[in-house]
Amino acid sequence: MDYGSSRPRSHLVAKVLVAASLTALCMFILRQSSTSTTDLFAHRQEGVMHVLVTGGAGFIGSHATLRLLANGHRVTIVDNLSRGNMGAVHALEEIANPGMLQFINADLGDRKAVDEIFKKNAIDAVMHFAAVAYVGESVAEPLRYYHNITSNTLTVVEAMTAHNVKKLIYSSTCATYGEPTKMPIVEDTEQVPINPYGKAKKMAEDIIKDYTKASSDLAVVILRYFNVIGSDPLGRLGEAPRPELRHMGRISGACFDAALGHIPELKVMGTDYDTKDGTCIRDYIHVTDLVDAHVKALAHASEGTVKVYNVGTGVGVSVKEFVEACKAATGVNVSVSYLERRPGDYAEVYSNPSKIFRELGWKARYTNLTESLSVAWKWKMAHPNGYGDARSNS
Ligand SMILES: NC(=O)c1ccc[n+]([C@@H]2O[C@H](COP(=O)([O-])OP(=O)(O)OC[C@H]3O[C@@H](n4cnc5c(N)ncnc54)[C@H](O)[C@@H]3O)[C@@H](O)[C@H]2O)c1
Ligand SMILES: *[C@@H]1O[C@H](CO)[C@@H](O)[C@H](O)[C@H]1NC(C)=O
Ligand SMILES: *[C@@H]1O[C@H](CO)[C@@H](O)[C@H](O)[C@H]1NC(C)=O
Ligand SMILES: *[C@@H]1O[C@H](CO)[C@@H](O)[C@H](O)[C@H]1NC(C)=O
Ligand SMILES: *[C@@H]1O[C@H](CO)[C@@H](O)[C@H](O)[C@H]1NC(C)=O
Repeated sequence: MDYGSSRPRSHLVAKVLVAASLTALCMFILRQSSTSTTDLFAHRQEGVMHVLVTGGAGFIGSHATLRLLANGHRVTIVDNLSRGNMGAVHALEEIANPGMLQFINADLGDRKAVDEIFKKNAIDAVMHFAAVAYVGESVAEPLRYYHNITSNTLTVVEAMTAHNVKKLIYSSTCATYGEPTKMPIVEDTEQVPINPYGKAKKMAEDIIKDYTKASSDLAVVILRYFNVIGSDPLGRLGEAPRPELRHMGRISGACFDAALGHIPELKVMGTDYDTKDGTCIRDYIHVTDLVDAHVKALAHASEGTVKVYNVGTGVGVSVKEFVEACKAATGVNVSVSYLERRPGDYAEVYSNPSKIFRELGWKARYTNLTESLSVAWKWKMAHPNGYGDARSNS
């Protein structure tokens, strides 16, 4: 081979070759270490918080995971896809850096599996979203709720204790208050839930509170969400409940389905409540704001205490007003039928969110309902059948 005539030139070529092969070797080693990512999950890494997100394939858990990844945290999602979407996990995998996200398909009702997850992974904090969450369904199938909410929360807390994990952010709900006579609801408002969903969540709260009081050095924040709406403003994720759950559905999904023609009309349940226009009043909180509250909660959780916060806008919106906002957001004159009340519903529920503003500096920013629904509608239009391969597991 002829490298050219002069000695210095061939010297240079040799150097370049050595440098190139060293670079290649380095890249090979880097690749190797980034493919053996299980190690990254098994060991603590200075400056990187590893958060276990239960229910991370679901609506709120997937949005929370998106934010945790953006903040540089490592995330392990545990979800058995009974209600969540593998498509949401795939969307998150596209965004995540190597070694920062893993998905584990497991049922939280399976104690052994849960214990194994905590044993194999160096978890620093838990955000516990996984649950069943439909008021109507809870009235019809209470055991499903006590099992999958109360009992599974006990399993998670026991596993945390066994493996020395201290921080817990718990997804609770305004349904634990029932139907208080005084509005808005503050955190000290008496909790008298009127359906199995609210009761199961209150029991889970009580387990966590009693345990933290008695013996543990857990650092817990319980967030009581009001009605969650919206989706990622950049359109990476959305809300995609299973078609078979649609009939129990939440109002935004039902309104969008009616606007798309998936269902003939939007059913408004109850027009004779004692409210401004006879329909129920709710407090609609954007999922991005809610996730922000979780991030702040994680930063403020402190050992041996359970902090409790309402997460809402503080503004009550009637179902009729919601329907108007939905029509404006979709541009579709959705047809609406007015029906009887649904068992387990309460007339009026909205929050006083001043405690979380005072203590964590959080307040809702996405408060224009029409705009929030417009963003969610955009995702829905781009994904008329949700995430598609809902049950695929690859
Ligand atoms: N959406 C709301 O308006 C709202 C309001 C208040 C509270 N919450 C609470 O927020 C949390 C998340 O709600 P969401 O709207 O995202 O619901 P979701 O149904 O979209 O997500 C729940 C996820 O948990 C998973 N899951 C359920 N049971 C499981 C089990 N036994 N093992 C493993 N995974 C399991 C499901 O597969 C699903 O992915 C729930 O705890 C809910 O009670 C929601
Ligand atoms: C999820 O777990 C429940 C038990 O709580 C089980 O009945 C269900 O079949 C599981 N779903 C999937 C998709 O694995
Ligand atoms: C919840 O618990 C019941 C048992 O009471 C089980 O049959 C069901 O599959 C569980 N999971 C879900 C997501 O409902
Ligand atoms: C929307 O539909 C209702 C009922 O079908 C009808 O009365 C109304 O005029 C329509 N509005 C518009 C703007 O088309
Ligand atoms: C909410 O947003 C819509 C659409 O952008 C706008 O027309 C409306 O004036 C806004 N409402 C308030 C109260 O700001």
